[in-house]
Amino acid sequence: MRDFISMKDFTKNDILEVLKVASELEGKNSTELLKNSIVGSLFFEPSTRTRLSFTSAVYRLGGQVLGFDSPDATSLKKGESLRDTIKMTEAYSDVIVMRHPKDGAARFAADVSKVPVINAGDGANEHPSQTLLDLYTIQKEFGSIENKKVAFVGDLKYGRTVHSLTKALEMFNCEFYFVAPESIQIPEYITRELDSKGIKYTLVDDYKDILKEIDVMYMTRIQKERFDSIEEYEKVAGIYIINKESILGRCKENMIILHPLPRVDEIEIDLDETKYARYFEQAANGVPTREAIFAIALDKVDVVKESMEEKDIKKSETVVCLNEKCITKVEKTENKYVVNKNHKYCYYCNKDVK
Ligand code: CP
Repeated sequence: MRDFISMKDFTKNDILEVLKVASELEGKNSTELLKNSIVGSLFFEPSTRTRLSFTSAVYRLGGQVLGFDSPDATSLKKGESLRDTIKMTEAYSDVIVMRHPKDGAARFAADVSKVPVINAGDGANEHPSQTLLDLYTIQKEFGSIENKKVAFVGDLKYGRTVHSLTKALEMFNCEFYFVAPESIQIPEYITRELDSKGIKYTLVDDYKDILKEIDVMYMTRIQKERFDSIEEYEKVAGIYIINKESILGRCKENMIILHPLPRVDEIEIDLDETKYARYFEQAANGVPTREAIFAIALDKVDVVKESMEEKDIKKSETVVCLNEKCITKVEKTENKYVVNKNHKYCYYCNKDVK
């Protein structure tokens, strides 16, 4: 049994095993695999693709789903904690899929739960199942993930898909361009990690400057709901908009454009008909990838398991997470942090502690 919480928990080989299982399951309805298994699907935030593709994956594998798509009709409204919600769901299901607005909520849930937890997005922190389907798409398109030049464009500060995908692609010797205005650039805790590993990356203002260089353009939505004020959002809303005219004849012939979706205005629909657009195929790849995630989480398939280097995890009443959006600010946790060389970071949300 294994959790899917952060791409930090995966080796390169672990990732390749997930993609191999996804490829084996794609297009088949292997309805014996999750027969008699119940999936608890807890969505505290809106979702179309993640929730529906997880649900589709369960049905295609012969399992059943219970849960909710909004916290409005749950006992959270009466003041119940996330801890107790998880303790109840573990009693009713064999695996939990959870999306939550707080950074680090998935790690917290996995600590509390006796059944595996799959992170379907925790605040601005991570979205590992999205990353696995992104990697599956890149592998299908190019035959390999290795040595790609990838531009992330848009909301890189709050973009959990970007944070998870960067952590994964660094294992495949990829090079990054982070294209964003300063206020929503890639967070320092990620570039610090890239620096420590000697991964090549460049901060860029305008995607036009690097369009000819890249293999993958990973567009993202500016996420209005994550900004502290509407004024801050309006300063950057609509900053990058691509369309047929801005891409055709200006990029590599085999470049692909990905987007985790939903999109708002950053990709105009005239691009959809071009050979570069792969975002709908990418979303469709969510089904086999999430089938593989269930199969591995519940030990329904044999995969080669590698052990990660042990983390130096400590507990303290006095060391606190500096991130106000961390789960530790609203739930009673064990106040854990990780020591990595001279640096300390929050065990739950990966941000700095003090
Ligand atoms: N990509 C993604 O997470 O989409 P949803 O928010 O619709 O699930």
